[in-house]
Amino acid sequence: MKSSSAYRKAIISDQQENIKFFSDSSLVGRNKLKALLDDLQSPFPIEQDYDLAPFVHWKGNSSSKIHRWLRYREAYSPELIDKLNLEGRILDPFSGCGSIMVGAAQRGLSSTGVDINPLSTFSTKVKLTKLKNTEIDQIKKIRSDLKAIIGKHNPSRLPDLSISEKVFEPEILNVVLKSKSAIEAIRADNPTIGDFLHLAWLESLEKVGSYFKEGNGIKYRNKQRSKGKYKDKKDGEWQLQRFGSDQASFAINCIKSQLDIMIEDTSDWKYGTWSKQKVLSGSALKLDKLLPNKKYDSIIFSPPYANRFDYFEAFKVELWFGGFVDSYDDLNKLRKQSLRSHLAAEYRKNNPVFEELESLINIMDRTASSWRMGVPDLLRGYFQDMHTVLKHCRKLAPNGRTHVVVGNSAFAGVIIPTDVLTAMIGIRSGFSKAKIIESRHLTVSPQQRALLTGFEGHMRESVVIFE
Ligand SMILES: C[S@@+](CC[C@H](N)C(=O)[O-])C[C@H]1O[C@@H](n2cnc3c(N)ncnc32)[C@H](O)[C@@H]1O
Repeated sequence: MKSSSAYRKAIISDQQENIKFFSDSSLVGRNKLKALLDDLQSPFPIEQDYDLAPFVHWKGNSSSKIHRWLRYREAYSPELIDKLNLEGRILDPFSGCGSIMVGAAQRGLSSTGVDINPLSTFSTKVKLTKLKNTEIDQIKKIRSDLKAIIGKHNPSRLPDLSISEKVFEPEILNVVLKSKSAIEAIRADNPTIGDFLHLAWLESLEKVGSYFKEGNGIKYRNKQRSKGKYKDKKDGEWQLQRFGSDQASFAINCIKSQLDIMIEDTSDWKYGTWSKQKVLSGSALKLDKLLPNKKYDSIIFSPPYANRFDYFEAFKVELWFGGFVDSYDDLNKLRKQSLRSHLAAEYRKNNPVFEELESLINIMDRTASSWRMGVPDLLRGYFQDMHTVLKHCRKLAPNGRTHVVVGNSAFAGVIIPTDVLTAMIGIRSGFSKAKIIESRHLTVSPQQRALLTGFEGHMRESVVIFE
């Protein structure tokens, strides 16, 4: 690996050469990228273990008991606990929908999770809160009387989300808001039963909605993609196809089906250590304040990747309708506390500057839209935040291993080897050893494909293990 001053010199010469670099589209540029990637990677030999692929990118979140109470596309598998030999007290500082905590409970271990998204921590809390048989019986009764119970309530207030009336058909919106009022009344009397019902209701929103989560946000069901363009579907027809002729009953039945699934899964609570799991709402950037004087034996996390995805955008309907945010100010506060992996995160000019990252930024194509949108600052913020998190992890598990599941990305004609940069930053955060295990290939976006032919091998999802 180059020394810092060698990197500084390389940056200056890169800046001078940058315009030329892309204009000759360019063997010189490609060779430079290859040399940089090889150089960065050289201290961290990369092992391959593709058997880990189904666990780092987990499809089971939507079908496995308890996990399926909140669909979370970015979840990893609790089997990583066994595959990576996690031991003792486990910490997941980006715990999402609680995959590790549910897995730890099922395996008789203890764990703590932290996440910035209040919907994620709420779902985790419900998954971990064992109900008594009498309470499950009460839920069964509410489920069978649901239509009548909903009928007794007025619709709850429409959230101030600008698209509130667009994301549900009017009849469905009426059921959504009335059932929310009914569940709120139950929550006021009996919070544990109410929270269980609230999660079932939240999980049914996308199924009954005129939207679905896709890419970095939501798309509408009345649009059809054809040859890269969106066309309107015929009004009246698509609703009939999706919801049938009785939309109100469709919506009530969706909540009931989700309750059936959840009630069935509660049998899993019979075994395991459910009371030994804890979940906290907060930022992994402030782990020192959230977990003062705590120590863990193993840490595992998968942070948002440096790919511009904003988790709050994809979950905005659930966040607003579920009462987790009440104003755009609330939402922006959450966005600003999240890891700087997306362009709505707060830009803070801070240190350290990672010269290795700067040398990659300096060979980016400055005419690319990602450059103009501010990706260089996103990347600077992302790795500074990772540095902060890894420093906390080092202190919280001084004698245990920390495992980071990350994916690389590509912007403006340059691969960002997040796994290698994370390994490098972890060493600067105080860890003495870092090992990278490549577990899966990732695809390059169509915009980057032509520019990065020959570099596909660097697009991977890996587990970085620190000691
Ligand atoms: C890749 S997902 C993790 C999914 C998780 N491994 C699971 O199986 O559910 C990344 C998570 O990081 C959370 N996040 C983003 N910024 C955060 C921050 N500053 N502190 C804690 N969590 C954060 C997001 O809300 C998201 O749930």
